[in-house]
Order: sequence, then structure tokens, then C-alpha cells
Amino acid sequence: MKILGIESSCDETAVAVVENGVRLCSSTVFSSQSLHQQTQGIVPEVAARAQIEEIIPVLSAVMKTQVGVELAAFAVTVGPGLIGSLLIGVETARVLSYVWQKPLLAVNHLLAHLYANWLTESQPVLPAVALIVSGGHTELVYLRDHGDYEWLGGTRDDAAGEAFDKVARLLDLPYPGGPSIQETALEGKRNAIDFPRPMLGSADFDFSFSGLKTAVRTYIQENPRANIADVAASFQEAVAEVLVKKTLSAVKEKGANTILLAGGVAANQRLREMLGEYAVNKYKLCIPPVALCTDNAAYIASCAYFNQNVVSWEHIKTNPSLSL
Ligand code: KG4
Ligand code: ZN
Repeated sequence: MKILGIESSCDETAVAVVENGVRLCSSTVFSSQSLHQQTQGIVPEVAARAQIEEIIPVLSAVMKTQVGVELAAFAVTVGPGLIGSLLIGVETARVLSYVWQKPLLAVNHLLAHLYANWLTESQPVLPAVALIVSGGHTELVYLRDHGDYEWLGGTRDDAAGEAFDKVARLLDLPYPGGPSIQETALEGKRNAIDFPRPMLGSADFDFSFSGLKTAVRTYIQENPRANIADVAASFQEAVAEVLVKKTLSAVKEKGANTILLAGGVAANQRLREMLGEYAVNKYKLCIPPVALCTDNAAYIASCAYFNQNVVSWEHIKTNPSLSL
């Protein structure tokens, strides 16, 4: 059963075809990131205008690889995300479903990030504790089975990716901040500056990153000649340590054996490495390939297959503030 997925919740325009939720047949991602570098962040109108131009070329590129293939359904991100951006994917999927007379599947972008883990050689075995870390979200979830999950905690202010993006701006590093901080950090010392580990000791599974961002700002104001690589490495270390330790406490509390990592920040090498160090010999750790961590449509199609949230083309709606 082949599903065509569409993703347009933020600054990517992506289409993919996935078979039975696990086999990636074709995938194309266009990112308007270069347009957002001048503003060091996304201007929603700029993102949506680029997506309007790209959706048909991206769709055509994937369809060209699927000539003669029977598609079983169309799937699309309905939220969370930017309203103008979401509308482009949803309206495209709605038309495809109507014209081709095939079912339409609505997908929650946050949950979908996790399904990057099903597009790998060996699929995760549930139950699992999942950490979803993206530009807009930081969530810990206990996934009992497909469609059966419990939200454990999330950020009270900035998301982990947002913290990377904002700190990059403070350090005059290019947008998106995650990759540029990661690269700059390679030249720095992780323990050079003792930045706070917010909420590490709290009894819940919540996070907070805005105080850490302020600590970085204060540090560079007080130390104008600070070594930027040391600041980047020490900041990255603080974020990774909080994410890893809280995830570990959640797995212990839920008595799960598997940890799933997902979202754009899951591309971070230090986070991947640290989680690996802590999980080794204790838990089965599933981390998607870097290319599947940031936004794409492959995990949208995979999530749609495992969750089968059918909505008619007349009734599908965007939901910019959709949560888990
Ligand atoms: O999941 P994603 O592609 O889009 C959202 O759904 O938000 O995540 C984008 C976020 C951005 O904040 C970006 O800076 C961050 O993921 N990111 C990284 C890395 N690559 C992307 N953060 C840390 N290290 C990375 N290597
Ligand atoms: Zn995302």
C-alpha cells in the first residue's frame, strides 16, 4: 500500500511516497532556508510565497518516479505550523483526493516526526519513550502503540531548536542556528563555560530553555572577547545534557526498553552521541538518519499509514496550534 505524503508546515515544501509505512519509494524536499538567512528567522509570508511556487514542481518530481504506480491514499500535515504554509499542503492534498477519488489522511506533524524511525532498516518495537525536539517543540511522549500515546512533558517557553536559533543570532552565526552552532562548537571546549541546566532537577518532564538563552546573552555581554566556539560548545552541551537526562528519567519511570529520538534537533551530533553514551547496554536507542530528522514528507506518509486518520476532502482543515 503506497501513500503519497505532503509536508508544508514551516519552511519546507516536501512530497514523498512510502510503501506500507516503512519503505521510502521517492522523496523530494525544497527548503526556503536561504531566503530566511537575511532575516535570521522565518517570515511566514516569505515562507508561504516560496511554497506556493514550489509545491507543483516538488509534486511533479515525485510523481515522475511513480508512473503507473497505484497510490492508495494521500496524506498531509494539518498542524501544528504556520497557517499560510499549512494551507498550501492541505489544499493541494484536498484537490488530489477529490480528483483521484482516493482517501485523505490527516497527520499531526509532531507525532509524524517519530515515524522517521520506521523508515530505517530495523523498525522500533513499542512501547517506547520518545523525545521530539524541533524548531517549535520539545516534547516527551510515552508511545504504547500506534495511536496510543501519553504526553509526559514539554517546554514551558522556548523549544530546543528555537534556543539554538536564538543563541546563533546572539553569536552572529547564520540561520538555522542548530547546524551553525554544531559546526562552530567543533572548535570549542564543552566545559569552558558552566551554563545552567534548566529544570534538570525538577520532578516533572518539563523543559525550559529561555533562561539558558539569557545566560548566554549575559555571558557575552560581560565577556565581549569570549571565544565564540567555547560559548557554542558549552551551550550545546547544556541543552544536550538536559534533553538526555530527562529522557532517561522518563524511560526509567515508564519501565520502557526503547528510546525514540526525532525532530530537527535530533540531527545534532552531540545530542546523538550523548544519548548513545547514556543508553548503551541499557536501552534500545532509535535515532533516524540525519536527512530524515529535519522536515520531510516521508515521515508524514509513514505516520499516516500507521495511524490511518481518514478525513473527507470536504472536511479536512488546517490546525496551526495542534498539539499532541
Ligand atoms: O523539525 P524541524 O526541521 O522543523 C520544525 O518542525 O520545527 O526543526 C528545525 C529546527 C531548527 O530550530 C534548527 O536550528 C534545528 O532544528 N536543527 C538543529 C540541527 N539541525 C537542525 N539543531 C541542533 N543541531 C543540528 N544539527
Ligand atoms: Zn518538524
